[in-house]
Amino acid sequence: MRAIHTFALALGLVCAATGVQARDWAAVKQSGTLIAASEGAYPPFNYFQGSRLTGYEIDVMEAVAKKLGLKLEWRALAFDALIASIRQDRFDVAIASHGYTEERAKSVDFTTPHYCSGGQIVAKAGGPLKATELTGKTLGVQLATTYAEAAKKVSGAKEVKTYPKDTDALQALLGGRVDAWITDRFVAKNALAKNSAEGIKGGDMVFVERVSMIHRKGNNELHEQLNKGLAAIKADGTLKAISEKYFQEDISCT
Ligand code: ARG
Repeated sequence: MRAIHTFALALGLVCAATGVQARDWAAVKQSGTLIAASEGAYPPFNYFQGSRLTGYEIDVMEAVAKKLGLKLEWRALAFDALIASIRQDRFDVAIASHGYTEERAKSVDFTTPHYCSGGQIVAKAGGPLKATELTGKTLGVQLATTYAEAAKKVSGAKEVKTYPKDTDALQALLGGRVDAWITDRFVAKNALAKNSAEGIKGGDMVFVERVSMIHRKGNNELHEQLNKGLAAIKADGTLKAISEKYFQEDISCT
């Protein structure tokens, strides 16, 4: 008992010293503000318009926070820093298109998905648009993503180049530094529309995934509240309206 007490006290001192606070639902609610993180380089899901974070996921988070009666404060972090930062309690929740994987679920918890999608091959006309055509090709993907995982599994690919941002991988394709880009199918759709003069095309889907908000493992009450907020914006049509605003279709999971 004494040992446990001493340990708890020591942990408290460490937290106070570093300014790091594991915020449970009671603490979030009491503060009145939810601290959410995203990346801001993954249009149209999360991106910057000038200095303002915007996109489908930003709107979804805003709507969820509103349902929960909370203000929202944003943090923008590199995609590959988000999971580690959750474990350091640098914010309460991240919404940055994390697809569920067993590996990730070992270190963070996933809420109910806000959309369902998957990885798609994008290449220039005449390039490898089929999964079977990737043999001997150079693939471009964003670091730490499920696309990077999928690319590594392509047997016979010549090389997998990873980029800090998904938009860098697109630029690599446009610049001819890679033969194919693997990205989300709705990111691809957006990129094709925005770069129609470049002759890029959407090819095979290589996997499907369910995409959720993520938060600190075991933060169960916060988990329930986030799911409650999401269920509420689903039920009243807000989620569908946000989806149609960015994608002209409902991308939520059925
Ligand atoms: N859906 C993919 C994954 O789960 C990519 C997410 C990339 N997100 C971003 N904000 N760049 O890994």
